[in-house]
Amino acid sequence: MSLLCQAILALFFTLFYNSHGYFIPQGSVGIGYNGYFTLTNTTKHAYGQAFDSELYSIKNSSTGLLTSFSVNFFFAIVPEHNHQGSHGMAFVMSPTRDLPRASSDQYLGIFNETNNGNTSNHVIAIELDIHKDDEFGDIDDNHVGININGLRSVVSAPAGYYDDKDGNFRNLSLISRKVMRLSIVYSQPDQQLNVTLFPADISVPPKKPLLSLNRDLSPYLREKMYLGFTASTGSVGAIHYMMSWFVNGVVEYPRLEFSRIPILPRYPKKSSNRTKTVLAVCLTVSVIAAFAASWFGFVFYLRHKKVKEVLEEWEIQYGPHRFAYKELDNATKGFKEKQLLGKGGFGQVYKGTLPGSDAEIAVKRTSHDSRQGMSEFLAEISTIGRLRHPNLVRLLGYCRHKENLYLVYDFMPNGSLDKYLNRNENQERLTWEQRFKIIKDVATALVHLHQEWVQVIIHRDIKPANVLIDHDMNARLGDFGLAKLYDQGFDPETSKVAGTFGYIAPEFLRTGRATTSTDVYAFGLVMLEVVCGRRLIERRAAENEEYLVEWILELWENGKILEAAEESIRQERNRGQLELVLKLGVLCSHQAASIRPAMSAVMRILSGVSQLPDNLLDVVRAEKFKGWPETSMEEVLLDVNSLSTLELTDSFADHGR
Ligand SMILES: *[C@@H]1O[C@H](CO)[C@@H](O)[C@H](O)[C@H]1NC(C)=O
Ligand SMILES: *[C@@H]1O[C@H](CO)[C@@H](O)[C@H](O)[C@H]1NC(C)=O
Ligand SMILES: *[C@@H]1O[C@H](CO)[C@@H](O)[C@H](O)[C@H]1NC(C)=O
Ligand SMILES: *[C@@H]1O[C@H](CO)[C@@H](O)[C@H](O)[C@H]1NC(C)=O
Ligand SMILES: *[C@@H]1O[C@H](CO)[C@@H](O)[C@H](O)[C@H]1NC(C)=O
Ligand SMILES: *[C@@H]1O[C@H](CO)[C@@H](O)[C@H](O)[C@H]1NC(C)=O
Repeated sequence: MSLLCQAILALFFTLFYNSHGYFIPQGSVGIGYNGYFTLTNTTKHAYGQAFDSELYSIKNSSTGLLTSFSVNFFFAIVPEHNHQGSHGMAFVMSPTRDLPRASSDQYLGIFNETNNGNTSNHVIAIELDIHKDDEFGDIDDNHVGININGLRSVVSAPAGYYDDKDGNFRNLSLISRKVMRLSIVYSQPDQQLNVTLFPADISVPPKKPLLSLNRDLSPYLREKMYLGFTASTGSVGAIHYMMSWFVNGVVEYPRLEFSRIPILPRYPKKSSNRTKTVLAVCLTVSVIAAFAASWFGFVFYLRHKKVKEVLEEWEIQYGPHRFAYKELDNATKGFKEKQLLGKGGFGQVYKGTLPGSDAEIAVKRTSHDSRQGMSEFLAEISTIGRLRHPNLVRLLGYCRHKENLYLVYDFMPNGSLDKYLNRNENQERLTWEQRFKIIKDVATALVHLHQEWVQVIIHRDIKPANVLIDHDMNARLGDFGLAKLYDQGFDPETSKVAGTFGYIAPEFLRTGRATTSTDVYAFGLVMLEVVCGRRLIERRAAENEEYLVEWILELWENGKILEAAEESIRQERNRGQLELVLKLGVLCSHQAASIRPAMSAVMRILSGVSQLPDNLLDVVRAEKFKGWPETSMEEVLLDVNSLSTLELTDSFADHGR
């Protein structure tokens, strides 16, 4: 594949993902199972709206016409009753970020009785309707419709898809609890809007759409619009999940895969009055028992219970646990020096064992000098605490005590990657297979943080010391998102710029703004260190070898890039991979942010789905990058369709615990 395509692709994904900020929740929007957005909860006659924080420019300002676009999202609806829908959800394009005074029930949280159907709304919605409302001429209680300014659909069809295999129509039930994908594509040249619904396990949209509307949508929409989702409940409840979404400014049919499609929990059972009474009695009894137990000194018994609770699934779903200081103090034997695992810019890390269980934990102690910003801190912690991924270190909980904050993580027995990069004679060297796996693990974690989670999380402090190795030699990224907290003034001891010297991207120093691209920069350097088995800067090395990246570039120019790899792993059979990772590392850690690929592109290259272009050296060596060459949209399209295997890697692999 040509460099051009690769470059466009990288740039394209960067723009595409960075273009949206985060959701602003209104009404009953919350975060449910595994961090997915729930647009409604169990409250009846309620609605939720979640619009992107930023406006999208969707018109060409000189022609006043819409630009083509595509939106893909994954969703699922969990009904209260298996065979009866609530009201449904919709993808909405709106001139305002919230739709004030919208109504629940049949109005889907978009319109109300007065403004329904008014042409001054400037709203287009694609509804996933699970209730038959005769007043709006609904065809059934399980349909997809295109709505302009009101709830009476312009076109609609029963939920289902045309199978590419035989062209036959297959029914789908929107309330089946199954994850489905909706693909919305608008082509301005064709003045055509296509909507395709299909199960999430089909990774490429079926060729024949469910709905097709031939109309120029330009007159209905404003130049800049907010994109988002709404859902509502009526007298029957349903939880509407929005799992992840992708917006793009061109006609596109991306291949999107979940490596394991989640099975969503059932609708929470209402506890009847009788169970409530039983519960209340149990609670009272247990409170009394608890008092009695502590009086009689059965503290251990209690501790044991508590510790077990920490690891319960429900607790993990609803965010991290708040530990009592005493628990942590006991766990770390009073923060004894002997328990100290390490010290970093942000505090000390102690090893501990939760009393009453053999769960090993790592407790990070960090000081903060003010009460200010505490609520932001806690909000941040709860976001971070909900992240579950096999390549992220789990944050189990936190504690506040006096001037200190304590963060409790899973203990990683094999320490950090840092240790393995030491030129210490006694340190066992990692094999190439182990190293390559570590690199891929970290990349997977970053793809998750940057692109798969409901909001973009920038790590801000990627370095070998933050890459931890678990029992099975899997790498897990630690400390994610926290650098931001320190940025906000949580750590008086460190310098102003959060991050670690050497791993800070040049544009970050200039602008002070961390982006996904600054993470890619640091990741590129880590890749190089892993292959070369040395530090970024080594004073003892020969003069031309002192700065790792420069040295690699010099070797590359002389056609000897492999010599940069550490001797113990330099073998013929590793040759291809070594070269790939070295070059990719140089590309990622390039001074010009515009040259660095997005993490999804990095992942594709690492997993062999895409290849590095042949003339990469020319690009990397260019003194100053002058922007990607002009290309027509067709080329971009071609490229995306031929190779975008965006892997939504599994975020549920924590099951095995
Ligand atoms: C459910 O949403 C309503 C708003 O519609 C909100 O008041 C309520 O607190 C939410 N319930 C839960 C359990 O989050
Ligand atoms: C807007 O439309 C004009 C005329 O068709 C075209 O030349 C221009 O490139 C378009 N601008 C954008 C940003 O697409
Ligand atoms: C409906 O919403 C509009 C604003 O979108 C508001 O002006 C109007 O008063 C609302 N009507 C009702 C009945 O709430
Ligand atoms: C539509 O809404 C506008 C502004 O809210 C209002 O002035 C107008 O009367 C409405 N039209 C109808 C037919 O209700
Ligand atoms: C699909 O659903 C429609 C309407 O509910 C029904 O008439 C039809 O028989 C179903 N088709 C299949 C193949 O189940
Ligand atoms: C919409 O679907 C039709 C097939 O029914 C297809 O020919 C057309 O190209 C599609 N339009 C867009 C914009 O994808």
